[in-house]
Amino acid sequence: MPGSRLAALGHHQPARVLTNDDLAGMVDTSDDWIRRRTGIATRRIAAPDESVTDLAAAAASKALAASGLRPSDIGLVTVATCSAVDRCPSIAAQVAGRLGIPSAVAYDLNNGCAGFCTALAGADHAIRAGAARHALVIGAEKMSDVTDWNDRSTCVLLGDGAGAAVISADEKAGIGPVAWGSDPTRSDAVRLVDDWHPHFAQEGQTVFRWVTTELPALARDACHRAGLTPADLCGVVTHQANLRIIEAVTRQLDLSEDVIIAKDVIDSGNTSAASVPLALSKLTERGEVPSGSPVLLLAFGGGLSWAGQVVTC
Ligand code: ACO
Repeated sequence: MPGSRLAALGHHQPARVLTNDDLAGMVDTSDDWIRRRTGIATRRIAAPDESVTDLAAAAASKALAASGLRPSDIGLVTVATCSAVDRCPSIAAQVAGRLGIPSAVAYDLNNGCAGFCTALAGADHAIRAGAARHALVIGAEKMSDVTDWNDRSTCVLLGDGAGAAVISADEKAGIGPVAWGSDPTRSDAVRLVDDWHPHFAQEGQTVFRWVTTELPALARDACHRAGLTPADLCGVVTHQANLRIIEAVTRQLDLSEDVIIAKDVIDSGNTSAASVPLALSKLTERGEVPSGSPVLLLAFGGGLSWAGQVVTC
């Protein structure tokens, strides 16, 4: 059965950089605490008039230009987001309109931070089923809209941004089979609480323990489904939530010494569903991932849910 491959990537981040010292002027925290517990040094924050649609459209437009395709070639547009305040029309439909994509199926998907990898699998399945030949898959978040800026335990973590991929039908399967699922026994561990204002809340230690215990097996599962082991990987792009999580998880995999491990959390903070495509797009833009090499994408978040697959870059 024909599969699909990554044809092009693009990303966009707002111009404003928020440093740890800036945050220390807003809540009772310090650069030292944030770096030691999370690895985060800076994050980007969108302007008040910069929406999730703006972020998504900017990343998507770069990916579409890099693909060399025409807007009319795109048959499916999907945006993974959990922070969009617009419910209808979908962000995907708005992006299709902005980019002049005339008649694609366009819909949003909310699977928390696992949203991009979930959407990528859905688009790959649609292409395999013959429902589209080219798809635009986007992860976009304006987490600053759903942040309690008085809560030091969460406001230091989050950032805004977007990443996008164009995937195209191909005889070779460049998007590997997905490993995905959820653990509803921990469905309260990550939430958007909507009382005085919608804001992100989590049981940080519960999530930390769950991720560092479960993620290595999920990473092996995604590799196994692609006929690989972690030792075969050239790169690993996990959800960028915490540098300590990235290091603890990748330490437990038998990776080769020269494997590229995405650490964009340092510069971008946690951008939820945008974090995986943002980090992947930056790695490829810098030429750090050789063309044709296998890279594991693996995301986790609210649900608790997870989704991951090996892609050929
Ligand atoms: N500055 C200073 N002190 C702080 C801050 C801060 N910004 N935030 C919390 N503290 C204090 C706490 O009040 C607590 O103080 P106490 O000991 O006096 O009670 C102490 O620091 C320790 O707090 P913990 O919450 O136990 O800190 P921890 O080491 O667990 O780090 C963190 C918190 C970074 C959230 C960590 O638990 C984590 O990363 N968890 C995983 C989160 C995750 O992966 N989420 C992914 C899904 S959601 C998404 O991605 C959008």
